[in-house]
Amino acid sequence: MPLLEVRQLRKGYRLEGRPPLEILHGIDFSLGAGECRPVCGPSGAGKSTLLHILGGLEEPDGGEIFWKGEKISGQTRSQWAQWRRRAVGFIFQSYHLLPELTVEENVRLPAMLAGVSVGERWEDLIDQVGMTLRRDHLPGELSGGEQQRVAVARALVLDPDLVLADEPTGNLDAASATAVLDLLVPMVKERQKSLLLVTHDTSVAMKVGVPLRLLDGRLAN
Ligand SMILES: Nc1ncnc2c1ncn2[C@@H]1O[C@H](COP(=O)(O)OP(=O)(O)OP(=O)(O)O)[C@@H](O)[C@H]1O
Ligand SMILES: [Mg+2]
Repeated sequence: MPLLEVRQLRKGYRLEGRPPLEILHGIDFSLGAGECRPVCGPSGAGKSTLLHILGGLEEPDGGEIFWKGEKISGQTRSQWAQWRRRAVGFIFQSYHLLPELTVEENVRLPAMLAGVSVGERWEDLIDQVGMTLRRDHLPGELSGGEQQRVAVARALVLDPDLVLADEPTGNLDAASATAVLDLLVPMVKERQKSLLLVTHDTSVAMKVGVPLRLLDGRLAN
């Protein structure tokens, strides 16, 4: 049974006075436990929209989403939020760390919000992303690559089965991008977690796995 299965997922935007924009026309795909795939496709194709829907940040117009065989689309917002917190780690292009919290506080935040004790895991993660010496620093005192490494630790702190990353290296120079990917991808694979990572960069895609291509609102395997 796949970890995540999507059937006929549709999404569009209706803006007043303009023709409706149909973005996702019926996406079908499934992702196995431990499977890592890059999501590729032209700008405006709907890659971020797809990830936002899968991560519960946006609602689809139609279609079904199954998690470990159980239908999760159509649940209430609070059930969905609860699922997301437990199941999904999200990494954004622009890091999205809270500027007033330290590295340590940012990494521990998902556990605090979920009311879950993660033991020493947050400390191990900060160590694994090489940020132990900076754990009392604020995001504004860190480089982009360092901030993204903190975001990687934060995304993994609740040990989610699925990591969603939307162009996580899009704001970084080549060396920092490589450093972040060389951390993120093995960390996800070693834990046998699943990853969907949006990227424009074929060399990045090759490090992740076999690409999923989003084109004309549909996903081609
Ligand atoms: N809130 C919104 N209201 C209206 N249109 C939107 C909204 N969000 C996204 N869109 C439109 O949906 C389409 C898909 O956007 P999306 O951000 O998913 O593309 P993308 O594939 O991630 O592109 P990029 O590679 O540039 O990040 C775009 O045409 C965009 O303008
Ligand atoms: Mg995008």
